[in-house]
Amino acid sequence: MFDLDRDLPINQPSEPIASRHASVLPAEVIHWLDPQPGQIIVDATLGAGGHTRLIAEKISPSGRVISLDCDPSMIEATKKRITNSIITFVHASFDQLRQVLDELKIQTVDGVLADLGICSDQLDDSQRGLSFQREGPLDMRLDPTRGMPASALVAQLDERSLADIIFQLGEERLSRRIAKAIVLQRKVSPIRTTTDLAELVRRCVPRSGKIDPATRTFQAFRIAVNCEMESLDSFLKMLPSCLKPGGRVVIISFHSLEDRKVKAAFRDSSIFVALTKKPVQAGTEEEFQNARSRSAKLRAAMRV
Ligand SMILES: C[S@@+](CC[C@H](N)C(=O)[O-])C[C@H]1O[C@@H](n2cnc3c(N)ncnc32)[C@H](O)[C@@H]1O
Repeated sequence: MFDLDRDLPINQPSEPIASRHASVLPAEVIHWLDPQPGQIIVDATLGAGGHTRLIAEKISPSGRVISLDCDPSMIEATKKRITNSIITFVHASFDQLRQVLDELKIQTVDGVLADLGICSDQLDDSQRGLSFQREGPLDMRLDPTRGMPASALVAQLDERSLADIIFQLGEERLSRRIAKAIVLQRKVSPIRTTTDLAELVRRCVPRSGKIDPATRTFQAFRIAVNCEMESLDSFLKMLPSCLKPGGRVVIISFHSLEDRKVKAAFRDSSIFVALTKKPVQAGTEEEFQNARSRSAKLRAAMRV
């Protein structure tokens, strides 16, 4: 069912493509996950593999990392870069973690990491349609084999549903104005590209400060297209069945909607003890080196 890449050849035929992605909070991930030699750890969001690599170093030589990503191109690119035979690469969404472990005949694991959101490499690829700074098709799917592109949502949803998405998932105050403009615009010509949508939003939302007015609307459509809130809910619900007693989970989120869910899951469940009372954030040095780290919030919990 899943693409389980158990036996990774040491020498790959094609040249690995360098990644521009810098992993956030690397030392903090290792501190809170506390991986030990011989353990089995899941990296639920492989991305460019920075965290997977650090975990693999800690649990080698007898441990095992199961690294998932819903984006097949991230799996392909990263497994060319990291040639460590203790890593199993799996193309799957983390909301399928239970099935993935069943297929690998693993009942429970010692730790799970999820570093939510997207990688710089995905953002930089104009063909993915994730960035309002790059002209490309308005797609936004992390897994192009599933679901509908953002252009289809923008073309088909009624004004009320568009406004709800932009307000609830983008926390954009001017959601109704943007939804109305989308409906008016698509009667004249389809909104097909990132630039079409970004320019429409910029006409509706006055610029304030350094943030591009299109930021929140792009976030909203990305979350909707990839069902990110639903996936996170399912993942949080299935985690207890995947972790050993004493096993640890570390989740890094990048916006308040995600962080609220993670905080509530750790606080309201009798199965978890929160290890971090407040979210752990990057220090000034990391914030300076890696702008993405400024909005990262790490929470950790232990399964009782
Ligand atoms: C922030 S990046 C992870 C970076 C990684 N920790 C590193 O050190 O390079 C997030 C990754 O999670 C993937 N992703 C997003 N939603 C996912 C989901 N539901 N299931 C699996 N992977 C997902 C994205 O495709 C992306 O590659």
